[in-house]
Formats: sequence, structure tokens, C-alpha cells
Amino acid sequence: MSIAESTQASSPQRFPLVEVKGICKAFGHVQALTDVSLELYPGEVLGLVGDNGAGKSTLIKILSGVYTADAGEIWINGRQVEIRNPLDAQSLGIATVFQDLQLVDCRDVASNIYLGREPMRRIVIDRTKMWKDAEAILSTLRMRMPSVKVDVSELSGGQKQAVAIARALSRGGRIFLMDEPTAALGVAEAEKVMDLVKEMKGHGAGVIIISHNLAHIFGVVDRICVLRHGQVVFKGPKNETTPEAIVAHIVGAAQAARIGSGQ
Ligand SMILES: Nc1ncnc2c1ncn2[C@@H]1O[C@H](COP(=O)(O)OP(=O)(O)O)[C@@H](O)[C@H]1O
Ligand SMILES: [Mg+2]
Repeated sequence: MSIAESTQASSPQRFPLVEVKGICKAFGHVQALTDVSLELYPGEVLGLVGDNGAGKSTLIKILSGVYTADAGEIWINGRQVEIRNPLDAQSLGIATVFQDLQLVDCRDVASNIYLGREPMRRIVIDRTKMWKDAEAILSTLRMRMPSVKVDVSELSGGQKQAVAIARALSRGGRIFLMDEPTAALGVAEAEKVMDLVKEMKGHGAGVIIISHNLAHIFGVVDRICVLRHGQVVFKGPKNETTPEAIVAHIVGAAQAARIGSGQ
């Protein structure tokens, strides 16, 4: 039985948390995604992998309301939805760590975490509460930060990444989309992010994680989906594949071998 099936069987919720069907997206003459379908179940981590330009970030941005798809459907909890903007995504419980982090460099750590959702006291931002809440969320991440009051421009790449992750976490949704969340992190910090992903999964969240680091992917995911030139070329449970086979799918060698052997 596949992990997807076992999740379905053991969960009272029969529907995938997220299901995308036949998603297409072009930028001018560049066909970034063609007929992409995938599903994410509650308590599941899906690894989304592929070479640079494969369309991974475009798919994440469509689910986050940054781009709209040219064709295809998005279903959340068994209901078809339209995600027209980032607010739609947020209200559906989707929280994203973008590849480019999308932080405001000239504002402090706490303001970045609560951007647009600052705690208010009457008509002014309750900074004391915001600082306290920001410290609490960063401490659950166990990421070192000089202070929640320093501007993001003063942080290292890893610390910036931690702020972006803290922001997604503070939104408290059930669907986490993480686009290369460990790219700027050292080994120990990356391990903490992987632990966090396992924790989210334990709480019944669904996580889609993009990474070039197949050790991270194989360490944390249940299923893997490989995109190549905007198309899904492999989708399956982690324990039914190998890193070598995934690399072959990423670079296209798997198809080449199949054609070569006449399959
Ligand atoms: N805003 C955009 N405008 C034009 N082309 C884009 C844009 N975003 C992505 N693309 C193109 O779409 C393709 C997929 O890009 P992307 O989703 O960023 O891939 P990945 O995240 O897998 O590296 C690439 O050819 C990229 O150049
Ligand atoms: Mg990308």
C-alpha cells in the first residue's frame, strides 16, 4: 500500500489537503508548467524536485496566489477553490516560504514576521506584543537571532531564512509550501528545519518542500514528485525509489533509458 493510500485509509479525512489538476502556466513563449497534477495528504511531506527552470517555484507561486494558472484546477480539502491573490491563499491555510524570501530589508525582524498582520492596540501597532510573539516563534525554531528589533538587512543569509520560516509558521495554517528553505543554512540549522518539517507533519499539516539536497529530501519526505521542463515525470512513495533513480528523472536519463530499452 502506498503512503498516500495508507494516509487515506488511516485518516478520517478522505480528501487530499491539496490537489492540483492539469495546471498549465506560460510566461510569454516559455511554457513553465504543462498539465501538472499532484496531491498532498494531511500529515504528509511531499518533496518537489527538478532541475533549475523545471517549474517548481512557479507551481508554489500559483498555490500561494502570486501567479494565476492559465488552466487547471486547485482543490483544497475536497473543495475546488480559486486562488487569485496571496490573501486567498492565506485564508485557505496556505503559508509559504518563498525561494527569494520576500523580506523587507529596511524593517526589523519582528515587523517582517508579522508583516500586514501586526498586533494592534487601538490604532497603533503593539510593538511590545509583536516583539514578544516574534521571540516566542523564533525560539520554537531554535534559530539564533541577534534581536527581533534589528533590521533584516543586518542579518546573515541563514538568519534571513529563519525569519521567512518564522513568518510562515506564525500564520498557523495547515499547508506549508517551502521553496528551498535550507539553501542558505549551515548543516546544523538545516537539520533544525528538517526537524520542524517532521513536527508539522506530526501535527497533521501537509508540507511541500523543494530542495536540491536529496539527502534532506530522502530524510524527511513521504512521497516525491519530479518536474522536468514543466511536466511531472515521476510521482511516487520515497521508499519505492532511490536517490539515483530520482537524479535520473531530474536530468532526463530515466526517459532516455526507457526509450533506449524500447519500454
Ligand atoms: N516571472 C517570470 N517571467 C518570465 N519567466 C518566468 C517567470 N518565472 C519563471 N519563469 C520561467 O519559467 C520557468 C520555470 O521557472 P521556475 O518555476 O522558477 O523554475 P524552478 O523553480 O524549478 O527553478 C523558467 O524557464 C523560468 O525562466
Ligand atoms: Mg525555484
